[in-house]
Amino acid sequence: MTIIQNPGDTPQVTAQTLPPIPPALAPTPAVRRSEPYLRLLWTDSVTGAVGYLVVHTLRGGLATGGTRMRAGCTLSEVEDLASGMADKTATFDLPVGGAKGGIDFDPKDPRAVEVLERFCEAMRPWIDQHWVTAEDLGVPQHLIDAVFDKLGLGQSYHAAIRRADDPAATLVRVRKGLNAAVEGGFLLGDVIGGYGVAHACLAAAVSWGRVPAATTVAIQGIGTMGGAAAYYLHEAGMKVTTVADAAGTLYCADGLDIPALLDLRDGYGEIDRTRLPEGIEQLPRTAVIAADVDILVPAAISYAINPDNSFDVRARIVVEAANAATTPEAEAMLAARGIAVLPDFVANAGAVAWAWWLLLGQVDDIPENSFDRLRTIMHSKVAQLLAAWTDHGVTPRDTGHRWADDPAPIMGPVIIS
Ligand SMILES: NC(=O)c1ccc[n+]([C@@H]2O[C@H](COP(=O)([O-])OP(=O)(O)OC[C@H]3O[C@@H](n4cnc5c(N)ncnc54)[C@H](O)[C@@H]3O)[C@@H](O)[C@H]2O)c1
Repeated sequence: MTIIQNPGDTPQVTAQTLPPIPPALAPTPAVRRSEPYLRLLWTDSVTGAVGYLVVHTLRGGLATGGTRMRAGCTLSEVEDLASGMADKTATFDLPVGGAKGGIDFDPKDPRAVEVLERFCEAMRPWIDQHWVTAEDLGVPQHLIDAVFDKLGLGQSYHAAIRRADDPAATLVRVRKGLNAAVEGGFLLGDVIGGYGVAHACLAAAVSWGRVPAATTVAIQGIGTMGGAAAYYLHEAGMKVTTVADAAGTLYCADGLDIPALLDLRDGYGEIDRTRLPEGIEQLPRTAVIAADVDILVPAAISYAINPDNSFDVRARIVVEAANAATTPEAEAMLAARGIAVLPDFVANAGAVAWAWWLLLGQVDDIPENSFDRLRTIMHSKVAQLLAAWTDHGVTPRDTGHRWADDPAPIMGPVIIS
Protein backbone atom coordinates (compact mmCIF):
# COMPACT_ATOMS: atom_id res chain seq x y z
CA MET A 1 0.00 0.00 0.00
CA THR A 2 1.29 3.49 -0.77
CA ILE A 3 1.90 6.48 -1.63
CA ILE A 4 1.50 9.96 -2.57
CA GLN A 5 3.72 11.82 -0.17
CA ASN A 6 2.45 14.43 2.14
CA PRO A 7 0.03 16.77 0.53
CA GLY A 8 0.05 20.51 0.80
CA ASP A 9 3.24 21.42 -1.09
CA THR A 10 1.60 24.56 -2.25
CA PRO A 11 -1.20 26.44 -0.59
CA GLN A 12 -4.59 26.26 -2.22
CA VAL A 13 -5.83 29.24 -4.15
CA THR A 14 -6.36 32.17 -1.85
CA ALA A 15 -9.84 33.42 -1.20
CA GLN A 16 -11.35 36.45 -2.73
CA THR A 17 -14.89 36.17 -1.51
CA LEU A 18 -17.66 38.67 -1.61
CA PRO A 19 -20.20 39.20 1.14
CA PRO A 20 -23.71 37.93 0.40
CA ILE A 21 -25.49 40.26 -1.99
CA PRO A 22 -29.06 39.90 -3.25
CA PRO A 23 -29.07 38.78 -6.89
CA ALA A 24 -30.77 41.95 -8.08
CA LEU A 25 -27.84 44.03 -6.81
CA ALA A 26 -25.05 41.62 -7.63
CA PRO A 27 -21.98 43.34 -9.09
CA THR A 28 -19.14 41.67 -10.93
CA PRO A 29 -18.45 38.37 -9.18
CA ALA A 30 -15.03 37.59 -7.77
CA VAL A 31 -12.52 36.99 -10.54
CA ARG A 32 -10.43 34.20 -9.20
CA ARG A 33 -6.98 34.19 -10.59
CA SER A 34 -4.01 33.82 -8.30
CA GLU A 35 -0.64 33.22 -9.96
CA PRO A 36 -0.20 29.67 -11.21
CA TYR A 37 2.57 27.52 -9.79
CA LEU A 38 3.99 26.91 -13.27
CA ARG A 39 3.43 27.75 -16.96
CA LEU A 40 5.13 25.84 -19.76
CA LEU A 41 5.08 26.96 -23.39
CA TRP A 42 5.81 24.54 -26.24
CA THR A 43 6.14 25.13 -29.99
CA ASP A 44 5.80 22.19 -32.36
CA SER A 45 8.84 22.11 -34.63
CA VAL A 46 6.84 20.48 -37.45
CA THR A 47 3.57 22.45 -37.62
CA GLY A 48 4.34 25.51 -35.53
CA ALA A 49 1.41 24.68 -33.24
CA VAL A 50 1.74 26.13 -29.75
CA GLY A 51 0.88 24.18 -26.61
CA TYR A 52 0.69 25.04 -22.93
CA LEU A 53 0.80 23.31 -19.59
CA VAL A 54 -0.34 25.35 -16.61
CA VAL A 55 -0.05 23.87 -13.13
CA HIS A 56 -2.13 26.00 -10.82
CA THR A 57 -1.51 24.06 -7.61
CA LEU A 58 0.56 21.01 -6.75
CA ARG A 59 -0.59 18.84 -3.86
CA GLY A 60 1.39 15.82 -2.81
CA GLY A 61 3.54 16.44 -5.87
CA LEU A 62 0.57 15.92 -8.19
CA ALA A 63 -1.78 18.05 -10.24
CA THR A 64 -4.65 16.91 -12.44
CA GLY A 65 -6.47 18.31 -15.47
CA GLY A 66 -7.29 17.35 -19.05
CA THR A 67 -5.63 18.33 -22.30
CA ARG A 68 -7.66 20.25 -24.86
CA MET A 69 -7.00 20.91 -28.51
CA ARG A 70 -8.70 23.67 -30.43
CA ALA A 71 -7.64 26.22 -32.98
CA GLY A 72 -7.22 29.48 -31.11
CA CYS A 73 -6.52 28.02 -27.65
CA THR A 74 -4.59 30.59 -25.59
CA LEU A 75 -2.38 30.58 -22.53
CA SER A 76 -4.88 32.77 -20.69
CA GLU A 77 -7.63 30.21 -21.39
CA VAL A 78 -5.45 27.37 -20.09
CA GLU A 79 -4.64 29.42 -16.97
CA ASP A 80 -8.37 29.91 -16.32
CA LEU A 81 -8.97 26.20 -16.79
CA ALA A 82 -6.09 25.19 -14.50
CA SER A 83 -7.39 27.54 -11.83
CA GLY A 84 -10.83 25.96 -12.22
CA MET A 85 -9.30 22.51 -11.81
CA ALA A 86 -7.74 23.61 -8.51
CA ASP A 87 -11.22 24.69 -7.39
CA LYS A 88 -12.68 21.34 -8.44
CA THR A 89 -10.14 19.20 -6.63
CA ALA A 90 -10.49 21.31 -3.49
CA THR A 91 -14.31 21.35 -3.62
CA PHE A 92 -14.44 17.58 -3.98
CA ASP A 93 -11.69 17.03 -1.36
CA LEU A 94 -9.42 15.28 -3.84
CA PRO A 95 -5.78 14.85 -2.75
CA VAL A 96 -4.32 16.56 -5.82
CA GLY A 97 -3.84 20.05 -7.25
CA GLY A 98 -5.20 21.53 -10.47
CA ALA A 99 -3.58 21.83 -13.90
CA LYS A 100 -4.53 21.95 -17.58
CA GLY A 101 -2.96 21.36 -20.97
CA GLY A 102 -3.98 23.14 -24.14
CA ILE A 103 -2.84 23.00 -27.76
CA ASP A 104 -3.69 25.66 -30.32
CA PHE A 105 -4.44 23.33 -33.24
CA ASP A 106 -7.51 22.09 -35.13
CA PRO A 107 -8.35 18.60 -33.80
CA LYS A 108 -9.80 17.71 -37.21
CA ASP A 109 -6.49 18.38 -38.97
CA PRO A 110 -5.02 15.06 -40.18
CA ARG A 111 -1.80 15.94 -38.32
CA ALA A 112 -3.61 16.42 -34.98
CA VAL A 113 -2.68 13.05 -33.46
CA GLU A 114 1.01 13.57 -34.26
CA VAL A 115 0.87 17.04 -32.73
CA LEU A 116 -0.66 15.57 -29.56
CA GLU A 117 2.06 12.92 -29.49
CA ARG A 118 4.83 15.50 -29.76
CA PHE A 119 3.19 17.68 -27.11
CA CYS A 120 3.04 14.74 -24.70
CA GLU A 121 6.64 13.80 -25.50
CA ALA A 122 7.71 17.37 -24.72
CA MET A 123 5.75 17.26 -21.46
CA ARG A 124 7.17 13.84 -20.55
CA PRO A 125 8.90 14.92 -17.31
CA TRP A 126 5.58 16.29 -16.06
CA ILE A 127 3.29 13.52 -17.29
CA ASP A 128 5.74 10.95 -15.97
CA GLN A 129 6.04 12.42 -12.49
CA HIS A 130 3.44 15.04 -11.63
CA TRP A 131 0.64 15.74 -14.12
CA VAL A 132 -2.33 13.38 -14.37
CA THR A 133 -4.14 14.33 -17.56
CA ALA A 134 -7.23 13.12 -19.38
CA GLU A 135 -9.62 13.96 -22.20
CA ASP A 136 -11.00 17.42 -22.87
CA LEU A 137 -12.43 19.42 -25.74
CA GLY A 138 -11.12 17.96 -29.01
CA VAL A 139 -9.19 15.13 -27.30
CA PRO A 140 -11.14 11.97 -26.42
CA GLN A 141 -9.90 9.69 -23.64
CA HIS A 142 -9.14 6.77 -25.96
CA LEU A 143 -6.87 9.03 -28.01
CA ILE A 144 -4.83 10.39 -25.12
CA ASP A 145 -4.58 6.88 -23.69
CA ALA A 146 -3.27 5.60 -27.04
CA VAL A 147 -0.67 8.37 -27.10
CA PHE A 148 0.49 7.57 -23.55
CA ASP A 149 0.67 3.89 -24.46
CA LYS A 150 2.80 4.67 -27.50
CA LEU A 151 5.15 6.71 -25.30
CA GLY A 152 5.52 3.73 -22.97
CA LEU A 153 3.55 5.45 -20.18
CA GLY A 154 0.57 3.09 -20.14
CA GLN A 155 -2.38 5.39 -19.62
CA SER A 156 -3.03 9.09 -19.05
CA TYR A 157 -3.30 8.69 -15.25
CA HIS A 158 0.31 7.41 -15.32
CA ALA A 159 1.84 9.91 -12.83
CA ALA A 160 -0.53 8.69 -10.11
CA ILE A 161 -0.54 5.03 -11.13
CA ARG A 162 3.24 4.76 -10.92
CA ARG A 163 3.04 5.68 -7.22
CA ALA A 164 0.90 2.68 -6.36
CA ASP A 165 2.42 -0.33 -4.61
CA ASP A 166 1.36 -2.42 -7.55
CA PRO A 167 1.19 -0.12 -10.59
CA ALA A 168 0.32 -2.96 -12.95
CA ALA A 169 -2.74 -3.93 -10.87
CA THR A 170 -3.79 -0.30 -10.54
CA LEU A 171 -3.51 0.18 -14.30
CA VAL A 172 -5.72 -2.85 -14.84
CA ARG A 173 -8.32 -1.48 -12.40
CA VAL A 174 -8.28 1.97 -14.02
CA ARG A 175 -8.66 0.52 -17.51
CA LYS A 176 -11.51 -1.75 -16.37
CA GLY A 177 -13.30 1.21 -14.79
CA LEU A 178 -12.87 3.50 -17.77
CA ASN A 179 -14.03 0.79 -20.17
CA ALA A 180 -16.90 -0.67 -18.12
CA ALA A 181 -19.94 -0.98 -20.38
CA VAL A 182 -23.03 1.02 -19.42
CA GLU A 183 -26.53 1.20 -20.81
CA GLY A 184 -26.86 2.90 -24.16
CA GLY A 185 -23.72 1.25 -25.54
CA PHE A 186 -21.38 3.72 -23.80
CA LEU A 187 -18.31 3.34 -21.60
CA LEU A 188 -18.40 4.43 -17.97
CA GLY A 189 -15.35 6.67 -18.32
CA ASP A 190 -16.95 8.51 -21.24
CA VAL A 191 -20.29 9.23 -19.57
CA ILE A 192 -19.61 9.73 -15.88
CA GLY A 193 -18.92 13.47 -16.16
CA GLY A 194 -22.10 14.06 -18.17
CA TYR A 195 -24.04 11.91 -15.72
CA GLY A 196 -22.96 14.29 -12.97
CA VAL A 197 -24.03 17.30 -15.06
CA ALA A 198 -27.43 15.67 -15.68
CA HIS A 199 -27.86 15.22 -11.95
CA ALA A 200 -26.89 18.81 -11.28
CA CYS A 201 -29.81 19.74 -13.60
CA LEU A 202 -32.14 17.24 -11.96
CA ALA A 203 -31.19 18.57 -8.52
CA ALA A 204 -32.08 22.09 -9.70
CA ALA A 205 -35.50 20.85 -10.80
CA VAL A 206 -35.94 19.20 -7.39
CA SER A 207 -35.11 22.48 -5.68
CA TRP A 208 -37.88 24.17 -7.70
CA GLY A 209 -40.34 21.39 -6.83
CA ARG A 210 -40.55 20.44 -10.51
CA VAL A 211 -40.80 16.96 -11.98
CA PRO A 212 -38.37 16.29 -14.83
CA ALA A 213 -41.16 15.96 -17.40
CA ALA A 214 -42.21 19.55 -16.70
CA THR A 215 -38.67 20.87 -17.14
CA THR A 216 -37.02 21.85 -20.41
CA VAL A 217 -33.32 22.02 -21.23
CA ALA A 218 -31.02 23.23 -24.00
CA ILE A 219 -27.47 21.92 -24.40
CA GLN A 220 -24.62 23.55 -26.33
CA GLY A 221 -22.24 20.77 -27.39
CA ILE A 222 -23.17 17.14 -27.81
CA GLY A 223 -19.75 15.49 -27.48
CA THR A 224 -18.45 13.62 -24.43
CA MET A 225 -19.96 15.90 -21.77
CA GLY A 226 -22.99 17.31 -23.58
CA GLY A 227 -23.90 13.98 -25.15
CA ALA A 228 -23.85 12.10 -21.86
CA ALA A 229 -25.72 14.88 -20.04
CA ALA A 230 -28.37 14.83 -22.79
CA TYR A 231 -28.65 11.04 -22.57
CA TYR A 232 -29.23 10.91 -18.82
CA LEU A 233 -31.57 13.92 -18.80
CA HIS A 234 -33.63 12.31 -21.56
CA GLU A 235 -33.60 9.03 -19.67
CA ALA A 236 -34.83 10.80 -16.52
CA GLY A 237 -37.74 12.23 -18.52
CA MET A 238 -36.57 15.82 -18.86
CA LYS A 239 -37.48 17.45 -22.16
CA VAL A 240 -34.30 18.28 -24.12
CA THR A 241 -35.76 20.64 -26.73
CA THR A 242 -32.52 22.10 -28.09
CA VAL A 243 -29.00 20.88 -28.75
CA ALA A 244 -26.15 22.47 -30.66
CA ASP A 245 -22.92 21.20 -32.09
CA ALA A 246 -20.25 23.05 -34.06
CA ALA A 247 -22.48 22.88 -37.16
CA GLY A 248 -25.63 24.48 -35.72
CA THR A 249 -28.60 24.21 -33.39
CA LEU A 250 -31.34 21.57 -33.56
CA TYR A 251 -34.75 22.21 -32.01
CA CYS A 252 -37.97 20.31 -31.37
CA ALA A 253 -40.60 21.81 -29.07
CA ASP A 254 -41.82 18.36 -28.00
CA GLY A 255 -38.34 17.23 -27.03
CA LEU A 256 -35.60 15.74 -29.20
CA ASP A 257 -35.07 11.99 -29.52
CA ILE A 258 -31.65 12.16 -27.88
CA PRO A 259 -30.57 8.50 -28.31
CA ALA A 260 -31.36 8.73 -32.03
CA LEU A 261 -29.32 11.93 -32.37
CA LEU A 262 -26.39 10.50 -30.42
CA ASP A 263 -26.25 7.62 -32.90
CA LEU A 264 -25.74 10.16 -35.69
CA ARG A 265 -22.60 11.71 -34.15
CA ASP A 266 -19.16 11.45 -35.70
CA GLY A 267 -15.93 11.16 -33.72
CA TYR A 268 -15.92 14.92 -33.14
CA GLY A 269 -19.38 15.04 -31.59
CA GLU A 270 -21.08 16.41 -34.72
CA ILE A 271 -24.49 15.18 -35.82
CA ASP A 272 -24.98 14.02 -39.42
CA ARG A 273 -27.56 16.48 -40.82
CA THR A 274 -28.37 14.21 -43.78
CA ARG A 275 -29.99 11.61 -41.50
CA LEU A 276 -31.94 13.81 -39.07
CA PRO A 277 -35.29 12.42 -37.87
CA GLU A 278 -38.46 14.22 -38.99
CA GLY A 279 -39.72 17.26 -37.11
CA ILE A 280 -36.41 18.85 -36.17
CA GLU A 281 -35.87 22.52 -36.91
CA GLN A 282 -32.34 23.60 -37.88
CA LEU A 283 -31.23 26.95 -36.46
CA PRO A 284 -27.97 28.91 -36.39
CA ARG A 285 -25.30 27.68 -34.00
CA THR A 286 -25.72 30.57 -31.58
CA ALA A 287 -29.50 30.06 -31.26
CA VAL A 288 -29.00 27.55 -28.44
CA ILE A 289 -27.99 30.33 -26.04
CA ALA A 290 -31.37 32.04 -26.47
CA ALA A 291 -33.46 28.87 -26.20
CA ASP A 292 -36.67 29.35 -24.24
CA VAL A 293 -35.99 26.64 -21.65
CA ASP A 294 -35.68 26.25 -17.90
CA ILE A 295 -32.08 25.06 -17.94
CA LEU A 296 -29.23 26.02 -20.28
CA VAL A 297 -26.22 23.69 -20.30
CA PRO A 298 -23.15 25.07 -22.07
CA ALA A 299 -21.11 21.90 -22.81
CA ALA A 300 -18.69 22.99 -25.52
CA ILE A 301 -16.44 26.03 -25.58
CA SER A 302 -15.15 28.30 -22.82
CA TYR A 303 -16.57 31.84 -22.57
CA ALA A 304 -19.73 30.66 -24.39
CA ILE A 305 -21.82 33.09 -22.34
CA ASN A 306 -20.29 36.52 -22.39
CA PRO A 307 -21.41 40.15 -22.21
CA ASP A 308 -22.34 40.08 -25.91
CA ASN A 309 -24.96 37.36 -25.52
CA SER A 310 -25.85 37.20 -21.82
CA PHE A 311 -29.05 39.17 -22.39
CA ASP A 312 -30.13 36.49 -24.87
CA VAL A 313 -30.24 33.87 -22.11
CA ARG A 314 -33.84 33.03 -21.21
CA ALA A 315 -33.21 30.02 -18.97
CA ARG A 316 -33.77 30.19 -15.24
CA ILE A 317 -30.42 28.60 -14.52
CA VAL A 318 -27.16 27.93 -16.37
CA VAL A 319 -25.48 24.63 -15.51
CA GLU A 320 -21.85 24.73 -16.64
CA ALA A 321 -20.76 21.45 -18.20
CA ALA A 322 -18.05 23.29 -20.12
CA ASN A 323 -15.15 24.72 -18.18
CA ALA A 324 -15.12 28.51 -17.84
CA ALA A 325 -18.37 28.60 -19.82
CA THR A 326 -19.55 31.95 -18.43
CA THR A 327 -17.34 35.03 -18.19
CA PRO A 328 -17.40 36.82 -14.82
CA GLU A 329 -18.99 39.90 -16.41
CA ALA A 330 -21.72 37.83 -18.05
CA GLU A 331 -22.37 35.98 -14.79
CA ALA A 332 -22.87 39.28 -12.98
CA MET A 333 -25.31 40.34 -15.70
CA LEU A 334 -27.21 37.07 -15.35
CA ALA A 335 -27.27 37.35 -11.57
CA ALA A 336 -28.74 40.83 -11.85
CA ARG A 337 -31.60 39.26 -13.84
CA GLY A 338 -32.07 36.55 -11.21
CA ILE A 339 -30.48 33.80 -13.33
CA ALA A 340 -28.21 31.50 -11.33
CA VAL A 341 -25.09 29.83 -12.70
CA LEU A 342 -24.09 26.44 -11.28
CA PRO A 343 -20.32 26.71 -11.69
CA ASP A 344 -18.17 24.28 -13.66
CA PHE A 345 -16.10 23.33 -10.63
CA VAL A 346 -19.17 21.74 -9.09
CA ALA A 347 -21.45 20.85 -12.03
CA ASN A 348 -18.89 19.07 -14.22
CA ALA A 349 -16.48 17.96 -11.51
CA GLY A 350 -17.92 14.44 -11.50
CA ALA A 351 -15.44 13.61 -14.25
CA VAL A 352 -12.32 14.40 -12.25
CA ALA A 353 -13.75 13.28 -8.91
CA TRP A 354 -14.64 9.90 -10.37
CA ALA A 355 -11.19 9.49 -11.94
CA TRP A 356 -9.63 9.98 -8.50
CA TRP A 357 -12.14 7.73 -6.77
CA LEU A 358 -11.13 5.09 -9.29
CA LEU A 359 -7.41 5.70 -8.77
CA LEU A 360 -7.84 5.56 -5.00
CA GLY A 361 -9.83 2.33 -5.21
CA GLN A 362 -13.02 3.95 -3.86
CA VAL A 363 -15.09 2.88 -6.89
CA ASP A 364 -14.64 0.00 -9.28
CA ASP A 365 -15.89 -1.19 -12.64
CA ILE A 366 -19.45 -1.76 -11.39
CA PRO A 367 -21.16 1.32 -12.88
CA GLU A 368 -23.94 1.50 -10.28
CA ASN A 369 -21.39 2.10 -7.51
CA SER A 370 -20.01 5.11 -9.36
CA PHE A 371 -23.42 6.44 -10.38
CA ASP A 372 -24.82 6.13 -6.83
CA ARG A 373 -21.89 7.90 -5.24
CA LEU A 374 -21.78 10.77 -7.74
CA ARG A 375 -25.56 11.25 -7.78
CA THR A 376 -25.72 11.49 -3.99
CA ILE A 377 -22.87 13.98 -3.74
CA MET A 378 -24.07 16.12 -6.65
CA HIS A 379 -27.64 16.42 -5.34
CA SER A 380 -26.34 17.40 -1.91
CA LYS A 381 -23.96 20.06 -3.25
CA VAL A 382 -26.48 21.57 -5.68
CA ALA A 383 -29.19 21.67 -3.02
CA GLN A 384 -26.86 23.67 -0.75
CA LEU A 385 -25.76 26.01 -3.55
CA LEU A 386 -29.33 26.78 -4.59
CA ALA A 387 -30.54 27.18 -1.02
CA ALA A 388 -27.86 29.83 -0.43
CA TRP A 389 -28.91 31.53 -3.69
CA THR A 390 -32.64 31.59 -3.07
CA ASP A 391 -32.53 32.17 0.69
CA HIS A 392 -29.60 34.58 0.98
CA GLY A 393 -28.80 35.81 -2.54
CA VAL A 394 -25.31 34.29 -2.47
CA THR A 395 -24.31 33.16 -5.93
CA PRO A 396 -23.56 29.44 -6.31
CA ARG A 397 -20.05 30.36 -7.42
CA ASP A 398 -19.37 32.33 -4.24
CA THR A 399 -20.67 29.50 -2.07
CA GLY A 400 -18.57 27.04 -4.07
CA HIS A 401 -15.48 29.20 -3.71
CA ARG A 402 -15.94 29.15 0.05
CA TRP A 403 -15.92 25.36 -0.07
CA ALA A 404 -12.85 25.37 -2.32
CA ASP A 405 -11.03 27.72 0.04
CA ASP A 406 -11.69 25.43 2.95
CA PRO A 407 -11.06 21.90 1.70
CA ALA A 408 -11.11 19.03 4.16
CA PRO A 409 -7.63 18.42 5.56
CA ILE A 410 -5.89 15.34 4.24
CA MET A 411 -4.84 13.16 7.14
CA GLY A 412 -1.65 11.20 6.55
CA PRO A 413 -0.30 9.83 3.29
CA VAL A 414 -2.69 9.32 0.41
CA ILE A 415 -3.07 5.69 -0.53
CA ILE A 416 -3.34 4.51 -4.10
CA SER A 417 -4.19 0.87 -3.63
N1 LIG B 1 -14.45 15.38 -21.40
C1 LIG B 1 -14.38 15.54 -20.11
O1 LIG B 1 -14.08 14.61 -19.35
C2 LIG B 1 -14.68 16.88 -19.50
C3 LIG B 1 -14.75 16.98 -18.10
C4 LIG B 1 -15.08 18.20 -17.52
C5 LIG B 1 -15.34 19.29 -18.34
N2 LIG B 1 -15.23 19.17 -19.70
C6 LIG B 1 -15.50 20.37 -20.50
O2 LIG B 1 -16.65 20.15 -21.31
C7 LIG B 1 -16.52 20.88 -22.53
C8 LIG B 1 -16.70 19.94 -23.69
O3 LIG B 1 -15.72 18.92 -23.61
P1 LIG B 1 -15.95 17.53 -24.35
O4 LIG B 1 -14.88 16.62 -23.86
O5 LIG B 1 -17.38 17.13 -24.25
O6 LIG B 1 -15.62 17.94 -25.86
P2 LIG B 1 -15.94 17.14 -27.19
O7 LIG B 1 -14.86 17.49 -28.12
O8 LIG B 1 -16.22 15.70 -26.91
O9 LIG B 1 -17.34 17.76 -27.69
C9 LIG B 1 -17.46 19.12 -28.00
C10 LIG B 1 -18.85 19.39 -28.55
O10 LIG B 1 -19.03 20.79 -28.69
C11 LIG B 1 -19.42 21.11 -30.02
N3 LIG B 1 -18.96 22.45 -30.34
C12 LIG B 1 -17.70 22.86 -30.56
N4 LIG B 1 -17.69 24.18 -30.80
C13 LIG B 1 -18.96 24.59 -30.69
C14 LIG B 1 -19.61 25.85 -30.82
N5 LIG B 1 -18.92 26.96 -31.09
N6 LIG B 1 -20.95 25.91 -30.65
C15 LIG B 1 -21.67 24.80 -30.37
N7 LIG B 1 -21.11 23.59 -30.24
C16 LIG B 1 -19.77 23.50 -30.40
C17 LIG B 1 -18.82 19.99 -30.85
O11 LIG B 1 -19.46 19.89 -32.13
C18 LIG B 1 -19.10 18.80 -29.94
O12 LIG B 1 -20.46 18.42 -30.05
C19 LIG B 1 -15.13 21.54 -22.48
O13 LIG B 1 -15.28 22.84 -21.97
C20 LIG B 1 -14.39 20.71 -21.47
O14 LIG B 1 -13.36 21.45 -20.85
C21 LIG B 1 -14.92 17.99 -20.30
